[in-house]
Amino acid sequence: MILVVGGTGTIGSEVVRLLQEAKLPFKALVRDATKARELNARGVQTAAGDLREPRTLPAALGGVDKVFVVTPLVPDQVQMRAALITAAKTAGVKHFVMSTGIGAAPDSPVQIGRWHGENQKQVQESGMAWTFVQPGFFMQNLLMYAQAIREKGEFYMPLGEGKVGWIDARDIAAVAVQVLTTPGHENQAYPLTGPQALSGAEVAAALSAAAGRPVRYVAITLEQAKQAMTGMGMPESLADAMNELYALAPPGYLAGVLDTVPKVTGRPARTFAEFAKAHAAAFGAA
Ligand SMILES: NC(=O)c1ccc[n+]([C@@H]2O[C@H](COP(=O)([O-])OP(=O)(O)OC[C@H]3O[C@@H](n4cnc5c(N)ncnc54)[C@H](OP(=O)(O)O)[C@@H]3O)[C@@H](O)[C@H]2O)c1
Repeated sequence: MILVVGGTGTIGSEVVRLLQEAKLPFKALVRDATKARELNARGVQTAAGDLREPRTLPAALGGVDKVFVVTPLVPDQVQMRAALITAAKTAGVKHFVMSTGIGAAPDSPVQIGRWHGENQKQVQESGMAWTFVQPGFFMQNLLMYAQAIREKGEFYMPLGEGKVGWIDARDIAAVAVQVLTTPGHENQAYPLTGPQALSGAEVAAALSAAAGRPVRYVAITLEQAKQAMTGMGMPESLADAMNELYALAPPGYLAGVLDTVPKVTGRPARTFAEFAKAHAAAFGAA
């Protein structure tokens, strides 16, 4: 039995969909009763639990031999995952699969990489078999700008002219499900990118093609990005941590392209054009 933690989010909802499609035994840890009812109505088994309430985890982990976890980018994500790692080890979980981020390591030069790396180290020291799914920037991040794209034909990011190896979150989930359901992935880290590195202008061109109207990339400064992120309610410490990542784009550090998705899943990684087409209505297509 697999326990999916984060199954209502961007990556996790696709993990749930794929596991259900494959008719594999799993349950999703859900903290929100309304979301649990929605999943139950679709035939998904749920376990009530909250990573911020560690006492809820032993019951959810009953009968579980594999865990998949993805947490949101929040200030206490290290503690949230630490609670789950401890509870999983105590419950006798055999294989712990965690979605972190590309380059995650305790000595990463960026804060978010160190946060992910701290939890990776904890899993590696736990004695459970482990697999880390380590994606780069998600194509789905562009959905945050969908309203601005529909209304103004613009989106704003601090990437300069740098290219990014954008990955579709559906491919991150496909890798995770392959890891959970086929042998040979124990004690491996899988850094993941999409099939091409694209500049902001190239992303805009793909969005324009899908939406059927002009979309323009506006390069903003890191300070403007910080104001936008904190304006949406993000704590300043997280906005600074995000800016450390964005600052890697202009010098080209996010432009790498890896073949891990096709190697693990046996099919090509989705292109940005495929992502844009799948969300064409959100980006303003008639
Ligand atoms: N976006 C990117 O470009 C990017 C790139 C690389 C790595 N990452 C990493 O990817 C992760 C985010 O992935 P995502 O976008 O798929 O996440 P997401 O959409 O924010 O989903 C987070 C999931 O965690 C659940 N959750 C939140 N708090 C919880 C709690 N206290 N107990 C149990 N479950 C809880 C949420 O449930 P609710 O529905 O109840 O909120 C949701 O299912 C972060 O670690 C980030 O650093 C992101």
